[in-house]
Amino acid sequence: MPQDDARDPLPTFHADLDAAFAELWRLLADGVAHGRSAFHTPSVATLDRTGRPRSRTVVLRQADAATGILRFHCDRRSDKAAEVAAGRHCALHAYDRAAKVQIRIEGSAHVHLDDAVADAAWDGSRPMSRVCYGIAPAPGTAIEAGGGYALPDETEAPPGRPNFAAVLVRAEALDFLYLDRRGHRRAGWRREGEGWQGEWRVP
Ligand SMILES: Cc1cc2nc3c(=O)[nH]c(=O)nc-3n(C[C@H](O)[C@H](O)[C@H](O)COP(=O)(O)O)c2cc1C
Repeated sequence: MPQDDARDPLPTFHADLDAAFAELWRLLADGVAHGRSAFHTPSVATLDRTGRPRSRTVVLRQADAATGILRFHCDRRSDKAAEVAAGRHCALHAYDRAAKVQIRIEGSAHVHLDDAVADAAWDGSRPMSRVCYGIAPAPGTAIEAGGGYALPDETEAPPGRPNFAAVLVRAEALDFLYLDRRGHRRAGWRREGEGWQGEWRVP
């Protein structure tokens, strides 16, 4: 558990549920913008076809407090794309040591392939990121040796668009845990109608 300094003032969200909600979304937005944040690379959990849990790291591309929608990108040929499409739900998780905050998100998820959402996500992605979607053979394929795959030349037009997918996660449940020796704080929210219903929880 990280050490905190008892002389540091407690953050507002330590005693204010609405401030904790705002802090959760602020940290996620900060994660989208900055690679140094652990919220830049949350793990995403899905279920495989036998119902067993699986998780992996992704880059968080969007986290919108107003809509409660998050976005990550993946190869449409990947296991995660198939598992999200089949299960239509996923869970995200990250713990940032500097912020001393763990965030857990559960939501419905949709894989966007050949629509405006995927087009906009592709248009907004950098050439360096696009190259990965031109990898051959498909992600997860067994190969003879570790280097037995090919990536397209970065200088050429990226051929990856047909393999690109944007996953939108509509958060339905949020769980926020802040660690502090003077008293941990845990809060949770569930979607209710147009808004969120929040509560403090025992850490
Ligand atoms: C730092 C980091 C960032 C990653 N970002 C992504 C990502 O944004 N999208 C993605 O599909 N895979 C990403 N990966 C790779 C996945 O974690 C995973 O290994 C790969 O996609 C295969 O997952 P799957 O077989 O469950 O589909 C990332 C891995 C690391 C370590």
